[in-house]
Amino acid sequence: MREASTRSRQPGSLDEISLVRPDDWHAHFRDGAVLADVVPASAARFARAVAMPNLLPPVTTTGAALAYRDRILAAVPPGAAFEPLMTLYLTDDTGADEIRRATASGRIIGVKLYPAGATTNSAHGVTDLGRCGAALDAMQECGLVLMVHGEVTGEDVDVFDRERVFVERTLAPLLDRFPGLKVVLEHVTTADGVEFVRGARDGVAATITAHHLLLNRNAIFEGGLRPHHYCLPVLKRERHRAVLVDAATGGEGRFFLGTDSAPHPRHAKESACGCAGLYTAHAGIELYAEAFERAGALDALEGFASRNGPAFYGLEPNRETITLRREPRTVPNTMPIGDDVLVPFRAGSRVGWSIAP
Ligand code: DOR
Ligand code: ZN
Repeated sequence: MREASTRSRQPGSLDEISLVRPDDWHAHFRDGAVLADVVPASAARFARAVAMPNLLPPVTTTGAALAYRDRILAAVPPGAAFEPLMTLYLTDDTGADEIRRATASGRIIGVKLYPAGATTNSAHGVTDLGRCGAALDAMQECGLVLMVHGEVTGEDVDVFDRERVFVERTLAPLLDRFPGLKVVLEHVTTADGVEFVRGARDGVAATITAHHLLLNRNAIFEGGLRPHHYCLPVLKRERHRAVLVDAATGGEGRFFLGTDSAPHPRHAKESACGCAGLYTAHAGIELYAEAFERAGALDALEGFASRNGPAFYGLEPNRETITLRREPRTVPNTMPIGDDVLVPFRAGSRVGWSIAP
């Protein structure tokens, strides 16, 4: 594997790092006027991004996914090369024929499992995986990846335990029942999830967000309630964050970059019942550089951000490179989102790295 080229001021203190242009294996772009506000930030950093299907109504058909792809592409700034990788939203009613249509389109790389009620716009999600047998069989046969929001729902399980319990109750039996199905545990947040993925059969991987690498659950309560640090799966204890950093920076091919950048208007976050999601696309790769730098592992960033994802999905890594510089910049307090504003991650404070023009 080629090593990322680096230039250092002094040993252990790199000022600049070049890497193969990264991809984002988990992003939310929303729809309509919002696309023009959020797609350019991703296109400036990533060559490809997996577009999550939890729109209202959700993207449940190949036709809807291809039309959504066109709308995303229309929001890519002229001159930028950016490929949205499309997904379908799995429901109890998704049929094998829809999976075959999706595969034949050549534009859809996976199907997202949202347990009903687990997160934003998951109301149409799966109530019982037992009903999805035909779709999962077809996905296994066609090689479409199952992308999993790995949390159980229900009052009986503590919100901080929902990923661990999902892994035990749902994911482990699913992998046994469909031994050829490729599965990504999206935005893994716990030591339990990481350990499970490490020990799982071939064809199982996980994405990790920058915010789960940088923050532990104290960030939700720092001096008061911080709605802009609320996401799902919710931030976890420090010991879990440390294991995520270890997995991301350790050179293990099963772990790769997925920002889960999830824009919501300010009023939807600063509310009596605030939405889950952090908007991070404005610094989508720079935040990972911070996390890797803190771990003394900048040389592992290229594998995690640019190589492991394509290898898992059976795609080539990108050909071009980008350069990141240690040039801190201040993030604006707000950014436009349609007719509204959102509060980006690190609003009013600094991100330590910038992309060289
Ligand atoms: O924090 C989150 N936001 N987690 C999700 O699973 C969904 C996402 C969103 O769409 O806002
Ligand atoms: Zn997501």
